[in-house]
Amino acid sequence: MPGLLLGDELPNFEVESTAGTVKLHEYFGDSWGILFSHPRDYTPVCTTELGRVARLSGEFSKRNVKLIALSVDNLEDHHGWSKDILAYNYEKSEGSELPYPIIADSKRELAVTLGMLDPVEKDKDGMPVTARCVFIVGPDKKLKLSLLYPHTTGRSFDEILRVVDSLQLTAQKRVATPTEWMPGGCVMVPPNMPEDEAAALFPIGVFSKELPSGRKYLRYTPDPLDRKGCEPPPAEPELPTSLE
Ligand code: BEZ
Repeated sequence: MPGLLLGDELPNFEVESTAGTVKLHEYFGDSWGILFSHPRDYTPVCTTELGRVARLSGEFSKRNVKLIALSVDNLEDHHGWSKDILAYNYEKSEGSELPYPIIADSKRELAVTLGMLDPVEKDKDGMPVTARCVFIVGPDKKLKLSLLYPHTTGRSFDEILRVVDSLQLTAQKRVATPTEWMPGGCVMVPPNMPEDEAAALFPIGVFSKELPSGRKYLRYTPDPLDRKGCEPPPAEPELPTSLE
């Protein structure tokens, strides 16, 4: 089964899109990149998703992320559908164009190569449609994260923003982010980092949670990009509150 695995380089496809012909690597440039696919144009769930991404596009720009959507319909459909997406999700004053292009993958070349096809859902001609896939690539064009949802479940692009924050933090600092982490929350110190190294790397403090096993692998430190403090995750009531 063709597809893209974590660490693989995104192929530099030349694609037809609503912004003209683009090569993916040149389009993403030195930015982070998100390629997200949709089953079909003129479908309800996709219309809500593309509208949500349009509304969040300023947040993605702030994080230096460039967006590109993909669907297996043609450019004419993409242009017509874009007007519906805007009408459903935007006030007239907010703009007349989607703030990102949509790729027309009519021959399903990208969808097949990148493993985006839904093995279950078929269109009226019995052809497979694209699933709801999200690929996040770093400035090095390597795959950092992928999601694959079925056509019946719309994605949360607030969650995609959250994972971008985690990916960008963990690309810079040797930490990991726990469940439900948001910027400013505590981050985890990798379990294989010796204590003296952790103390040197995280001078504000490293706090470990006592556990029945006696092993000290649950170690927290404040978000190293946001030194305001360490908000413990909700399921950890006994974390130290003082960071002095
Ligand atoms: C939708 O986006 O609403 C959708 C797409 C394919 C099948 C069913 C629903």
